[in-house]
Amino acid sequence: MKVVLAKSAGFCFGVRRAVEMVEQLLDEGRTVCTLGPLIHNPWFVQSLEARGARVVQSPAEVPPGSVLVIRSHGVPRSVYTEAAALGLEVVDATCPYVAKIHRLVEEASEKGAVALIAGDPEHPEVIGIRGHCGKAFVFQDLQELENITEKNPYLRDTPVVAVAQTTFHAKEWLNCREFMKRVYTNPIIFDTICSATSIRRREAEKLASQADAMVIVGGRKSSNTAKLHALCAAHCPSFLIEGATELPREALAHAGCVGVTAGASTPACIIKEVLNAMTGLENTDNIDSNENESNAEPEDIDFAAALEQSFK
Ligand code: F3S
Repeated sequence: MKVVLAKSAGFCFGVRRAVEMVEQLLDEGRTVCTLGPLIHNPWFVQSLEARGARVVQSPAEVPPGSVLVIRSHGVPRSVYTEAAALGLEVVDATCPYVAKIHRLVEEASEKGAVALIAGDPEHPEVIGIRGHCGKAFVFQDLQELENITEKNPYLRDTPVVAVAQTTFHAKEWLNCREFMKRVYTNPIIFDTICSATSIRRREAEKLASQADAMVIVGGRKSSNTAKLHALCAAHCPSFLIEGATELPREALAHAGCVGVTAGASTPACIIKEVLNAMTGLENTDNIDSNENESNAEPEDIDFAAALEQSFK
């Protein structure tokens, strides 16, 4: 069996940055509270807890003297206000690409625009973006956008600013963009899907189209891992596992080539463990472990100066 590891498998730039910020605080002996689990990986969250980090659900739970860390997904503006009112020290690990979306919708909202956010309304990143807007609507696909537009016909002639969750589906976003351009008067549209996400998905799909089976390593609660799994499953038998112990040995026993990829919140040590376990599979003869490129920063999102121009 040949095993091919996707180059982009593992931490993306924003997750790596957040993890390094927390690890540095722990190294300095600080007491750290993260607002929600730092990443969607139970093993990693437990390892941080073993070093003294604590997961809290609100700033009010942070004990005196602790640092509150905002994770890469970002949070609504109200959380900063609440933390400031409590006099908390805050370390903001919001991914810079998400923080940029916050700034865009904030500026547009101040100028009276209604925000249209493509994404999962329950996802923390979308909840965070929404919390930086004035009036806003969230839609998960073109159908929902059409319904919102039908129920709120005033939107057609109102200044609107549209952004997407950084992990939103690229094709669905294109459909939504086309609709907004066709139906709305001068919508301001920012392409905010993160290139780290699209590169990872393209690579996983290509690998899945060439492999006999795919192994996707990541947390079951991670939405980007679930999306990778769905993309790969369209091409070949694909298995989502959280770690080496879940490796589907029997299912892989007769595969000639197995591709391996991992979600943006999967630590390198877990990917390595899976690869090591695969070398132990009976018929493994070659692991093509490309240098992991997850350190790479995504291409800068081209937010351009459109916002300023549009609201002049
Ligand atoms: Fe940031 Fe992109 Fe990762 S937005 S958190 S670098 S997927």
